[in-house]
Amino acid sequence: MSQNKMEITKRPESKATSSGMSWDELLKLEEKYCSWGDTVHYVPHPNIFKSCKGSYLYDIEGVEFLDLQMLYSAVNFGYRNERLDAALKRQIDILPHLACQYLHEEKILLAAKLAQRAQATFEEAGRIHFNVGGASAVEDSLKIVRNHTGKSLMFAFMGGYHGRTLGASAITSSYRYREKYGHFGDRAMFIPYPYCFRCPYEKKKDSCGMFCLKQFEKLFETEYYGVINNKNNNCEFAAFYAEAVQGTGGYVVPPAEYFSGLKKILDSHNIMFVDDEIQMGFFRTGKFWSIEHFGITPDIIVFGKAMTNGLNPISCIWAKEKLINPKVFGPGSTHATFSSNPQGTAASLEVMKLIEESDFATSVPKKGKYFLSRLKDLRKKYKQIGDVDGLGLALRMEMCEKDGFTPSKKLADRIEEIGLEGKLSAGGKRRGLILDIGGYYKNVFTLAPSLYITEKEMDLGMDLFEEALKRALKELA
Ligand SMILES: Cc1ncc(COP(=O)(O)O)c(C=O)c1O
Repeated sequence: MSQNKMEITKRPESKATSSGMSWDELLKLEEKYCSWGDTVHYVPHPNIFKSCKGSYLYDIEGVEFLDLQMLYSAVNFGYRNERLDAALKRQIDILPHLACQYLHEEKILLAAKLAQRAQATFEEAGRIHFNVGGASAVEDSLKIVRNHTGKSLMFAFMGGYHGRTLGASAITSSYRYREKYGHFGDRAMFIPYPYCFRCPYEKKKDSCGMFCLKQFEKLFETEYYGVINNKNNNCEFAAFYAEAVQGTGGYVVPPAEYFSGLKKILDSHNIMFVDDEIQMGFFRTGKFWSIEHFGITPDIIVFGKAMTNGLNPISCIWAKEKLINPKVFGPGSTHATFSSNPQGTAASLEVMKLIEESDFATSVPKKGKYFLSRLKDLRKKYKQIGDVDGLGLALRMEMCEKDGFTPSKKLADRIEEIGLEGKLSAGGKRRGLILDIGGYYKNVFTLAPSLYITEKEMDLGMDLFEEALKRALKELA
């Protein structure tokens, strides 16, 4: 272990934990008893957190961490949002649980609000089906697609992420997530996403003439490209799964006209469009659903995460009436014990009310514009920041070598670790910074701050980030 790492692990004894155990004692237990199959040990020295408020997490020593990822965009409305927490607490005192075969008021009201919102936005009648967790909603959407089309193959994007259950893994681009789990006969056909900073076709955005879309369209020109029978226009693929703005793929924002072009191609071959809003939904990008920026109507939408402000893992599917009406998707078509649980529906109903009484459509783009301008300022100072971009408060920053293009996972990792160590000093006191890394080369900071983040907090975030960046550059020089 390097001198540097020793220093990082050394923590003062803390009696601030509920158990009275120190940081080291707790980590020893974790090392022995927790599975490491999740993502905690992506960093060499995990921290232990104790409380949160607004845009901040606090570790067991009371160090304040500005959070710029907010539970992977699940806590859009800030930690310990009093109004939302109160709705959950109220529900716990009245009807904390109910088998999902029985009805409760909050489920009905929430479904109505969500379906009415979809109808107002897309001029399409539809219904809501509940499940738990994003990947489970994706699984159910796959059932709806299979049920409607009788087909099991899907298109999805390179760089796309839809979850880690078996079905969701089959349409998630990373082979790493499938590698150890046998053959995936229904693995999606992955199509290049319009990631213009690193165009897979090495084109330039201003002059490409949407080359990527033309390449996709070409697939349908002849049966010998393997996707369609041109004699009856029957495509072997049932649906295209897409995140309008890629999340785990690195908060990549597509050209404004891309999705309308894609949808035209899909419509002409009767291919459904499934919109995964699990990460970008609930105003992350400045619209309720990020697909609204692109003027198309999906057949199915899946969403979760921020629908309860991260208080409950409930998730949802909205589908057009023809796909989900009781005649085609009748009782028992799918089921999960906790699917429409009263705590989740009550919290989510309050989220919907909060949204209706707020103006996130104005505030989020305004805050996003300010944050992006600060990121652009920083990029001017450091060659190692290759690209910055964003839509609303979904922002990206690519860490690179000095050429400003070659991805530097090493630099991104070190900055993330320094943030998590909680030994930064910007703002005059000891602090930390919570960042998340995504992207095809794992070199992109995917910034998803609270939608209530203030300019002062954004400035603090930039100061903390710059301090971590300077330290990492010095160490790695
Ligand atoms: C776009 C997208 N789809 C699906 C998922 C899977 O959701 P969950 O982790 O709740 O299963 C995620 C999670 O990050 C996601 O970002």
